[in-house]
Amino acid sequence: MTTDVVQLYENFPFPSPEDDSPLIDVVAEELPFVLADTRLTGWQILDAGCGTGNILVALARSHPEAHFTGVDACARSVEIARRRAEHHQVTNVEFVHGRMPDLDLDHRFDLILCFGVLHHLPDPRAGLRWLTTHLADQGLLHLWLYHALGEHSRMLDRELVQLLSRTGSRGDGLETIRSLGIRLSLSEYGFPTGWTGLELSEAEQDALDADAYLNPVVQPMRFADVPDLFAGLPVDWLAADRVYTPGGTPFVDLAGAEPDRTRHIHPEELVDTPTLRTRVRELDSLDQLRALELRLRPTGFRVIAGRGRSLDRCVGRIHGNLLPLHR
Ligand SMILES: C[S@@+](CC[C@H](N)C(=O)[O-])C[C@H]1O[C@@H](n2cnc3c(N)ncnc32)[C@H](O)[C@@H]1O
Repeated sequence: MTTDVVQLYENFPFPSPEDDSPLIDVVAEELPFVLADTRLTGWQILDAGCGTGNILVALARSHPEAHFTGVDACARSVEIARRRAEHHQVTNVEFVHGRMPDLDLDHRFDLILCFGVLHHLPDPRAGLRWLTTHLADQGLLHLWLYHALGEHSRMLDRELVQLLSRTGSRGDGLETIRSLGIRLSLSEYGFPTGWTGLELSEAEQDALDADAYLNPVVQPMRFADVPDLFAGLPVDWLAADRVYTPGGTPFVDLAGAEPDRTRHIHPEELVDTPTLRTRVRELDSLDQLRALELRLRPTGFRVIAGRGRSLDRCVGRIHGNLLPLHR
């Protein structure tokens, strides 16, 4: 079964084909865990692969002092996102239909979000190059990626679904998923009550399952893959940010700087004896993250990178999470 990635989203716009579905506020609400100052006056912010705009419109609504652009390769998603912004009377956001890395966008941005997109590109590095060249001199790039360890079993289900689905037609793949009794839950990513606390509609569940099992391109990664992905690209620093697991979504804190241990995690907290804790502490940052991912087997993870002095725009925790950058 082969379908173009974008055709998949034309059939199943993500995360919601419904114009009046609830906005997803969680990214806006959690910005203070990443940015030292969340007054974004005059910032230009891009959501690359914004889908149907549930996250982006929520962000634009919370930050009227900034201007937002959503880009997506799926024409239907862009139309839905535009209607969503109108529905919520949010005017500081515009949407552009186009595909990375071919899209010609004559703008540079202070913050680029790219959540759940790069791993669906046939050439993630080409997409990443496009993203980094659209960063302003002090710009920040925030990525959410599928994690290879926690996604192993889903990847096997995906392979089985695709093996047994006859065509790329909209209905057949979904029917195979349902016949196999497969249904993805957002609790896999640490959202036990969905993104908004409301149950997903049937159409949203279909979109979630299509994204999870019918996607022709999915390349889950690990922290150690990310420096290679960034090698030679125009960013000045790279850092780990967060992991997503069925048990929670802790922010990585390699320097152990944050007092609130309910939301933050240091890999040494995942082993019990003083000896092992000392050994974890003696590892370099990538190996500490290796210990963390081997222990937690996350389904997703986030990293953040930036140009110039943009690290100063981030909370202290991010300063302690720096990863090596290969020049
Ligand atoms: C899993 S959805 C993520 C949507 C949104 N970022 C979110 O987190 O809710 C992936 C999105 O990436 C878009 N996409 C895939 N390949 C793309 C490309 N080359 N350029 C731009 N958008 C792309 C798809 O159309 C889809 O809307």
